[in-house]
Amino acid sequence: MSNRIAVVPGSFDPPTLGHLDVIRRAASLYDSLHVVVVHNPGKEALLPIAQRLSLLEQSIAETGITGQITIASWSVGLLVDYATDVGAGVLVKGIRSQIDVAYETPMAIVNRHLAGIETVFLLPDPAHTLVSSSLVRQVASLGGDVTPYVPEAVARFLDTGARGI
Ligand code: PNS
Repeated sequence: MSNRIAVVPGSFDPPTLGHLDVIRRAASLYDSLHVVVVHNPGKEALLPIAQRLSLLEQSIAETGITGQITIASWSVGLLVDYATDVGAGVLVKGIRSQIDVAYETPMAIVNRHLAGIETVFLLPDPAHTLVSSSLVRQVASLGGDVTPYVPEAVARFLDTGARGI
């Protein structure tokens, strides 16, 4: 297991500027990054997994994030199994508030107990601390403008493509 390989997991439904900020920071810290779309059964999804993968790929390319980045999905079993399979020793999560700390801390401890995988928390740019996928889903579904919160590829898709979903 290598701490030079990290996994950035999330629902990414849809990817936001906050996600891209965390991915950009993580890409500068690790040699190799796996950005993994995880099916979260606790959340009602807006976009199919394949669409989230495509939007992540376009957004990472358009934002000019460089580095060795693999974009993948994981829906069977523990996330730490994915991390172990690819040789990653670290999960990277963005922390926007004390609410995120409370939500993420038990998962970080369990993941360390389960497989010795550490979790690294990154603080996003303050400009993104109020952005969440659920807020974007709500604003978009009510016809509001989400361009301040999402990468251009996501804004384009929500403006046009999402009507067919
Ligand atoms: O973007 P989200 O919805 O906040 O991401 C949450 C996610 C998918 C990262 C989290 O639910 C998760 O890590 N799921 C993996 C499932 C798992 O392995 N659970 C057991 C240990 S916590």
